[in-house]
Amino acid sequence: MHIIDDMIGRMTLEEKAGQLSMFPAALAPAPANAANPASVSGSTQEQAERVRQGLVGAVFNASDAGWHRRMQEIAVQESRLGIPLLFAGDVIHGFHTVFPVPLAEAASFDPDLAERTARAAAVEATGAGLAWNFAPMVDIARDARWGRGVEGAGEDVLLGGLLAAARVRGFQGTEGLGHPQAMLATPKHFAAYGAALGGLDYNSVDISERTLREVYFPPFQSAIEAGAASTMAAFNDLNGVPAHADPWLLGDVLRGEWGFDGVVVSDFTGDLELVAHGYAASPREAARLAFLAGVDISMASGLYVDHLPDLVRSGEIAAATLDRSVGRVLRLKERLGLFDDPFGRLRSTVDQRDDKPAHRALAREAARRSVVLLKNDGVLPLSKSGQRIALIGPFGQGPAHLHGPWVLFARPDHAVSIADGMREALGVAADLSVVAGCGTEAPIPDGIEQAVAAAREADVIVLVVGEGEDMSGEAQSRVTIDIPGPQRMLAEAIAAVGKPVVTILKSGRALVLEGAIARSEAILAAWFLGTETGTALADILFGDHGPSGRLPVSFPQSSGQSPYHYDHRSTGRPTETHQPGEQFKARYREALNRAAYPFGHGLTYGDVVYEDLDLGTCTLPWSGSIEVGAVIRNRGEREATELVQLYIRDRAASITRPVRQLKAFRHVTLAPGASERIAFQLRREDLLFLGRDLGWTVEPGLFDLWIAPSSETGLHGTFELLPD
Ligand code: NOJ
Repeated sequence: MHIIDDMIGRMTLEEKAGQLSMFPAALAPAPANAANPASVSGSTQEQAERVRQGLVGAVFNASDAGWHRRMQEIAVQESRLGIPLLFAGDVIHGFHTVFPVPLAEAASFDPDLAERTARAAAVEATGAGLAWNFAPMVDIARDARWGRGVEGAGEDVLLGGLLAAARVRGFQGTEGLGHPQAMLATPKHFAAYGAALGGLDYNSVDISERTLREVYFPPFQSAIEAGAASTMAAFNDLNGVPAHADPWLLGDVLRGEWGFDGVVVSDFTGDLELVAHGYAASPREAARLAFLAGVDISMASGLYVDHLPDLVRSGEIAAATLDRSVGRVLRLKERLGLFDDPFGRLRSTVDQRDDKPAHRALAREAARRSVVLLKNDGVLPLSKSGQRIALIGPFGQGPAHLHGPWVLFARPDHAVSIADGMREALGVAADLSVVAGCGTEAPIPDGIEQAVAAAREADVIVLVVGEGEDMSGEAQSRVTIDIPGPQRMLAEAIAAVGKPVVTILKSGRALVLEGAIARSEAILAAWFLGTETGTALADILFGDHGPSGRLPVSFPQSSGQSPYHYDHRSTGRPTETHQPGEQFKARYREALNRAAYPFGHGLTYGDVVYEDLDLGTCTLPWSGSIEVGAVIRNRGEREATELVQLYIRDRAASITRPVRQLKAFRHVTLAPGASERIAFQLRREDLLFLGRDLGWTVEPGLFDLWIAPSSETGLHGTFELLPD
């Protein structure tokens, strides 16, 4: 008999329920405690006692290797069966070294980069004993009001899937889950959490199965195909059924259709919340519904310890069903190497956990490549000498607002502020004045006066405005996605001085830009860039590196357009051919439904043009491919790294199709004056969509195609998919 079956045979019902229960660590850093509602983990002694009794299978969000070691000793040496504990954590974009928030990193459009930062994060985190990561978040996010878009890859399905898989590979590594530096990945939140009505966190989701399958499922499928062995249920109800109690979602689709054989974990008290949803009449019923729907592990609520044994004794849950989940958890522990060596991840040196130079260098590279140049009238890059610079705004100096909302284990004072990064780049000759001007959401006494005085003394102003790092993330939905009023007032006052203004935007979401901020001479979207914020921004500001990031989310003109995404369907009254004053079109009174800065947009310090679109025969045979290409030329005087994007549109199909869909992208770096032909191969498989019967299909006919620098521009042609 296999060791695990043998172990299950010897376990009591209470011990089985214990293996299916995970609790917040009693010894967690303060940010980790603040990341969730208050919980009842008890003191360290009480938690240790429960581990001794075999009533805990996993704990999460501690980072103290010594404490992990002690808890593991209790589990393997003092509990009856000696089953090792699994240590988990939210290592979303770094452990000690903090990489850009995932949304920012998505702007790099570089899965290889995402894989490398995830690997570095896992190397550091496993050094503290963590074996299970509650990341990556792969929820497609199309409503910028929703605060959790910051944790994911943005609005696009193709990019979302590529980054999901890359991050799974990065966290888990390529040497098997048993490797001491492998961290089990958890694509979350299953499913459609990002589609919350009104962009309100935790809110209901009501979308078609078609949209689920075409938009929200694919990144999960990519993550699972990349080897992810756990997933987390979503807080929301989906078309009337809470995801934590949805046997169709967790059973038929996940395990049945996709063959997933890992574990499903609840979100924080998500099983108990079935009561508040009005789906379960009592905590006991909630435990039964969540467990039978397919949630293997209960997080934080204690519901499984409290109720599973009794539910099995009463016959409401079959003993074999309980054993199946216990088997999944124990097999996962086995795959993670915990039975062979429960202390494997706890043998590392402190050095592994440190934000060592190689990781800081990677953080700087990732941060640089996350910055998106939205606009530039030529003021950027700045010269390092011969001009006086005023750095103005509430985010210019100090350790706050560099990491973003989801960093639990790093020290903020390890991060480089924008002021320090600029000073380092400028060297001894630095002529930089630094003034806050206002707080994030409130004025400060004499703030504007001081800022205006500094602006008058300067030749150029770098204005850093946007969201504080607590304005996005969990439970941080916004009714408007604008920049807080006091900062807008500051921007108006600075603009009135009449000096060129370079605006750096901090945010965890797409923003609406208005007034003086929108009119700045240059605008950089800089999100939250992590440990190397200041150095990376200085690299870009002074032109040591050119910007190459592209928007992974559309920046709408107005908050009222939310949810806004580039790949919407066409109405019967589209506005592409809209004439001023024309009525009866799908537009708002105040604005066309277009982006201020569309998905895929981003400038370089070169001057890149697209020429000579070539679609060959303009026909795609049913079983062949078509090569499409264009010449990309840099007419500018500086090197440019351009993201060449390929979009298609199905002109007429049996289901209405998006006005554009990203199908491929490629970076090309061009020296001044250089050009290169970039070609893509398209096959019938690239044109698939869900037909009326919800099966993948493709129909012959005419397709639009763009080779483009963004989702709203580019060279346009058409080709025909020939019938079989
Ligand atoms: C709630 C969040 O929704 C989830 O993403 C996270 O992993 C858990 N809290 C644990 O911190």
